[in-house]
Amino acid sequence: MATVLSGLQPTGPVTLGNYLGALRHWVDEQDQDQAYFLVVDLHALTVAFEPGRLRALVTESALCMMAAGLDPERCTLFLQSDVAEHTELAWLLECTASFGELSRMTQFKDKSAGQEFVSAGLFTYPVLMAADILLYDVDQVPVGEDQRQHVELTRNLAVRFNSRYGDVLTVPEATVPKVAARVKDLQEPTRKMSASAASMAGTILLLDPPEVIERKVKRAVTDTGTEVRFDPQAKPGVSNLLTILAAATGTEPEAVAKDYSRYGDLKKATAEALIAVLEPIQARYRELAADPAATDAILAKGADKARSVASVTLARARDAVGLLPRH
Ligand code: TYM
Repeated sequence: MATVLSGLQPTGPVTLGNYLGALRHWVDEQDQDQAYFLVVDLHALTVAFEPGRLRALVTESALCMMAAGLDPERCTLFLQSDVAEHTELAWLLECTASFGELSRMTQFKDKSAGQEFVSAGLFTYPVLMAADILLYDVDQVPVGEDQRQHVELTRNLAVRFNSRYGDVLTVPEATVPKVAARVKDLQEPTRKMSASAASMAGTILLLDPPEVIERKVKRAVTDTGTEVRFDPQAKPGVSNLLTILAAATGTEPEAVAKDYSRYGDLKKATAEALIAVLEPIQARYRELAADPAATDAILAKGADKARSVASVTLARARDAVGLLPRH
């Protein structure tokens, strides 16, 4: 039995990419020995945000995680900012990380490119993520492909910290799904599907109503030619639809491709499969959203549990680097 942990950033509404690449696997893994899932609200401060919208998105993210199947009786569900140990360990790790290695993070390069204002927080973002993970002696971090480099950095920081200061931190590893590790935008199938895209036309949201899902899938960009074939290089649009359909029905894109000979049929089946997966999640979301006090109680209990574990690791790390016990 392993300890697993993963996080969701409330910078926008939860997307189908989040669900297929990460969230649905968290649901499968919550019966591990220990499972921690957090809404990383502090990470959402690294790019431009509006406080009122952030507040709403934090709650929406936590509700989506539960609606998708995370059960607070079986896992620890909490908000990052409720556990102050995250920012404190992040500082110790910032002093362990090098400027050069953080400069090489592709997500930093992508998110900072062409921006007029780049926060220092965006630069140190992966170190806070490392702290999220390393506080809980985590073995496995289930994430989509885009987070693999950050988990690799986390491993490097843990190894470096341990070699400098003694055996304090557990070195985790990323678990990335075989299918749908990088769901693409339906309008621009070479780009990752994301809620921060300029237009939502190519991004399916977990809470999109059925008719919106149908419309977005119907208008998805396909490729020249007419053949349905899984070939991400030559046919990125069709391959993305095949990936989505395969993930939604628990099969493989190559196998799904054999069942369709026309783009129109593939789109119809994809929309139907998505609606079948998302409708029950949306119904559960509405139930949970109707009782905000229950969500608060769940998050409070999660924060208590997380704090009790994080405070022990942080004390160990403080002591190892030579900080005195707190007065
Ligand atoms: P975030 O919030 O961008 O995404 C949450 C999870 O969803 C996955 N994901 C995708 N998977 C497949 N296709 C896509 N189009 C797609 N878009 C997103 C992500 O890979 C991720 O697993 N830095 C993290 C949050 C974080 C974290 C952590 C994760 C903070 N601390 C500690 C793990 C452990 C992020 O921004 O994920």
